[in-house]
Amino acid sequence: CGIVGIVGTEFNVGELIDDLQKLEYRGYDSAGIAYICDGTISVTKSLGRIKNLREKIKPVRSLAGIAHTRWATHGAPNDINAHPHTDCTGKIALVHNGIIENYVELREFLKSRGHEFKSETDTEVIAHLIEEHFDGDLYKAVLMTVKKLKGAYAIAVMHADFPNLLVAARKGSPLVIGKAPDRLILASDVTPIIKYTKDVVFLEEGDLAILKDGEFKITDSNGNLVLRKIYHIDWDEAAAEKSGYKHFMIKEIYEEPEAIESALVGRVTLDGPVLHELKEFDLENVEKIKLVACGTSYHAALVFKYFVEKYANIDIEVDVASEFRYRNIYVDDKTLVVAISQSGETADTLESVRIVKKKGAKVVAISNVVGSTITRESDVTVYMNAGPEIGVAATKTYVNQLVVLYLLGMEILKKKGIWNEDLENDFEFLKRSPNLFRKLLEDFKIDELASYYKNYNHFMYIGRGINHPTALEGALKLKEISYINATAYPAGELKHGPIALLDPKFPVFAIAPQGYLYEKIKSNIEESKARKARIIAITNEGNEDLLKIVDDIIYVPKAPDDMYPLIMSPVIQMFAYLIADMRGYDPDKPRNLAKSVTVE
Ligand code: G6P
Repeated sequence: CGIVGIVGTEFNVGELIDDLQKLEYRGYDSAGIAYICDGTISVTKSLGRIKNLREKIKPVRSLAGIAHTRWATHGAPNDINAHPHTDCTGKIALVHNGIIENYVELREFLKSRGHEFKSETDTEVIAHLIEEHFDGDLYKAVLMTVKKLKGAYAIAVMHADFPNLLVAARKGSPLVIGKAPDRLILASDVTPIIKYTKDVVFLEEGDLAILKDGEFKITDSNGNLVLRKIYHIDWDEAAAEKSGYKHFMIKEIYEEPEAIESALVGRVTLDGPVLHELKEFDLENVEKIKLVACGTSYHAALVFKYFVEKYANIDIEVDVASEFRYRNIYVDDKTLVVAISQSGETADTLESVRIVKKKGAKVVAISNVVGSTITRESDVTVYMNAGPEIGVAATKTYVNQLVVLYLLGMEILKKKGIWNEDLENDFEFLKRSPNLFRKLLEDFKIDELASYYKNYNHFMYIGRGINHPTALEGALKLKEISYINATAYPAGELKHGPIALLDPKFPVFAIAPQGYLYEKIKSNIEESKARKARIIAITNEGNEDLLKIVDDIIYVPKAPDDMYPLIMSPVIQMFAYLIADMRGYDPDKPRNLAKSVTVE
């Protein structure tokens, strides 16, 4: 998940580890380093913290080195799967961020050409492919190699015979280059670079770079030299960790487009959605699905329920894990259990998995952490590939849970022979969603709105149908980071009690896209208005109807009914973030909460 490379006058390899440490904030499970010394490449790797790696390194000097922190996506976190990876000759070493979508085919091809693989990673195929193309020119070999890669990558490569050279390439994962008097430095972001220079160049999509003899050249994917703009960074190191954002939470909201792209990699085919992980699973005969999760993950599970039950006669039940584990859950051979946990370590969810497994149920885990306990104890895992999330409040992982759960729902429906125009539209929307998110995140400005509402002490979130979980998640986000008493109800329940709370000091946040049940929620908005509550509504672009009733309105792109939970996520997250920040709280570290709750 983090790359650093140095080439220049002789340096102590410990310096490369210092630079790698600057990327520690990005989250990782293992780390590694490779450097050239006396014409050979030395590789050292270590599971766990960078300090474990440092303890293994001798104080040698080198002219070129690359280092990496890994956040596992293919293959468990361990010393072998950690980067750098090498080819058969041991002369080529590389580090990689991203996911190579076609690595299985490439691996088979390379095996047929006699290459032997040491790790389970997608990355190792790149080292062997470069070896395959190498005829004395490392840049040319990398250029030919990247043409064969599908997916996302940022790579830094070196060769034992060229101690004055690093070659890099970027598609989908960032890479930045800086030039200091005694060295060139390459990294995933500016954090390790700014102590050397504040003038940096960002590689653009498809670019390759040659770093050699104190100068760097950039080419496009056809090998033509290109000039890229030099940016002057005036952040200090702390700001750089957050790419200039004030908090990780806001940075992670802005990472949602890329996170969705990673969740879709390899799962969008010409034949529709495919979750290869479930190939061997008997989804055709599933009659009952039980979803178990906690917190934000529980809300994602609820969206799945509304989505799938709309199309199929499947009995779907969702429960929070702390309840589920103490109930008498009936499972049979037609029951599928889906356990959702971003961290993969939540104690209640894990225990729920153990209980149903003992009863003979098949369990699909949905997690963001490769090799986490839940992934080891479930039958199969569908990874959400959001990349590490540092902020305690789930943002991009919630979005990716939704994406993966939509894909899972589509996979089950397809296997049951259910596919129609609505599902096709949903799938098309999913494919477009990274760009829609990008545009939405650029366009919508709710600072003024947040500033107005920051002093209210209560909020009522309402939604109906598939938008009810959005209300729950919106209220959870607001309460967990801004400590405002935010509560959520299915809008139709207002009249059975909660409406008694409403008055001018108790605003209502209505999730009200113009879709199924729109007229119903409109009535609930009217009822709330009649109690003099202020109303903020979030709805789709083009809906002018609500302007007459509500006090404030936030628009998101028009979407198929099923997809509003996805496209509305960044809005509810941003609203909570802004209010927490304006109230003077640190949204990254809310009081009394932990990112991963490993106790009951
Ligand atoms: C904690 C976090 C929540 C998260 C929940 C479940 O309470 O603060 O943000 O939703 O755990 O976590 P999991 O890792 O199982 O998804």
